[in-house]
Amino acid sequence: MATNRTFTMLKPDAIENDHMGKIIDMIIGAGFSIKALKLTQLTDAQAKEFYAVHAERPFYGELVEYMTSGPIVAAILEKDNAVEDFRTLIGATNPADAAEGTIRKLYAESIGRNAVHGSDSDENAALEGAFHFSAAEVF
Ligand code: RTP
Ligand code: MG
Repeated sequence: MATNRTFTMLKPDAIENDHMGKIIDMIIGAGFSIKALKLTQLTDAQAKEFYAVHAERPFYGELVEYMTSGPIVAAILEKDNAVEDFRTLIGATNPADAAEGTIRKLYAESIGRNAVHGSDSDENAALEGAFHFSAAEVF
C-alpha cells in the first residue's frame, strides 16, 4: 500500500450512538477519499491480534471486550500525508485532551470508548488495511 493511505475503524460506540454518517462526512470533508469500506464485527481473536501491541497493558481485556461488543466500520483512506493528517483529524486518545473540532472531541465518550481508530504509521496502516480487506475489496 502506498504511503498516502491510512486505515481507520469507527468503533462500536460510534456505531451504537448513530455517529457513523457524521464521522464519514467529516472524513470526506477533510479531503480523504475512501478506498475500502465495510461494516463488520471483530471476533475475540481478531481484536486480540489487532491490539496485540497492548497485550501487557491493564486495559487490554476491557479494550478487546469493547472492540468486539458490536459492529464497527473499517476503512482504508487516501490523502497526502494520510497517517499524520488523520491522527490530527481524530484528536487525542482521551477526548478530554482532544482539540476542539476533532472527531474524538465531538463524538468520543471516554478514553476507552473513543469513537475512532487511526493507524500510527505507514507500516501499520498497510498491515491493518491488509488485516481487514482482501485485494479485491480495495479500490
Ligand atoms: P487507536 O490505536 O485506537 O487509534 O488509539 P490511539 O493510538 O490514540 O491510542 P493507543 O495508545 O493505541 O490505545 C489503543 C486504544 O486503547 C484504548 N485505551 N484505553 N483505559 C485506558 O486507559 C485506555 N488507554 C487506551 C483506547 O480505545 C485507545 O484508542
Ligand atoms: Mg494506537
